[in-house]
Amino acid sequence: MLRAAADVTATADLLVIGGDGLIGRALAAAARKRGLRVLTTSRRPGQGDIALDLGDPASWPALPLVGGAVITAAVARLAACQSDPASALAVNVTAPALLAARLRTAGAWCLYLSSDKVFDGQVPLRERDDPPCPRTEYGRQKALGEAAARRGGAAVLRLSKVLDPDLPMLREWRARLAAGEGITPFSDMVLAPVALSGVTALILKLAAGREPGVFHYTGARDLPYADLASSLARALGADPALVRPSATPPDVAAGILVPHSSLEMRREQALYGWSNPSFAEVADEIAAGLAKA
Ligand SMILES: NC(=O)c1ccc[n+]([C@@H]2O[C@H](COP(=O)([O-])OP(=O)(O)OC[C@H]3O[C@@H](n4cnc5c(N)ncnc54)[C@H](OP(=O)(O)O)[C@@H]3O)[C@@H](O)[C@H]2O)c1
Repeated sequence: MLRAAADVTATADLLVIGGDGLIGRALAAAARKRGLRVLTTSRRPGQGDIALDLGDPASWPALPLVGGAVITAAVARLAACQSDPASALAVNVTAPALLAARLRTAGAWCLYLSSDKVFDGQVPLRERDDPPCPRTEYGRQKALGEAAARRGGAAVLRLSKVLDPDLPMLREWRARLAAGEGITPFSDMVLAPVALSGVTALILKLAAGREPGVFHYTGARDLPYADLASSLARALGADPALVRPSATPPDVAAGILVPHSSLEMRREQALYGWSNPSFAEVADEIAAGLAKA
């Protein structure tokens, strides 16, 4: 049930801003599983513990006292940022800046989720201190959001493509392969994926350490979506001939067909012993999840 501002008095270990999205939902579940007291926000009526529309700061309730907060709510689709940049900017940049400043003032550690798309994808394992050089409106907004959130005292976690067996594209691939139908993954679009389980585990580590600064979590190497599909088909015991690689349509490809999305992880290695997962490692984890689903 949604609570009005005056009713939100409970303290929590973790506030997940955007509890309905892919990462927010999984993060809240993983944190609760570890025994943390978690509050979530949502803009959807009847969902989450706190009503929060990032596009409308005037409507925000007072935030509860929390140990840490993770800003997962975002306009995360490239096309949505492109078609209505002003609305997306309010959510991706203005709101995180305000939230980070308020949360830090109240003593909370805060994390802003960002993307490899703050860079141009022209070099592998991009260095974290390289200046942002985005090619898309989404990437430009994430770079601005990072800067604004950091000014408010937040840490930043840049992610590459996050995979989970529940993603609609992967479920559709699985269903079609199981039915003996072909799938047409892109042969010219690459990813250096990470698994959602790893993303939530790293965020909880960062929160426990109240780490400042910029963090990376991406795969070690970029390979085409077609390679991912072939790995999954193999692991699921499907006929490999059902994977029919195709070129990305020109309207989708504009500005996004870049060779690299990987980012270096030396800091994460030094702090936690975490390094860039291999493509095969992530594909195997996803295949195992799909096989169980
Ligand atoms: N998933 C990835 O592969 C990936 C990769 C790199 C970086 N990231 C970053 O990680 C973060 C989370 O990504 P995700 O994949 O979990 O995104 P997602 O599944 O699209 O979830 C985003 C959430 O933001 C919420 N939201 C959008 N506009 C809002 C508003 N005005 N007020 C309140 N909530 C609003 C959406 O709410 P509704 O559900 O109500 O629409 C949605 O639940 C984003 O910052 C994204 O840029 C993700």
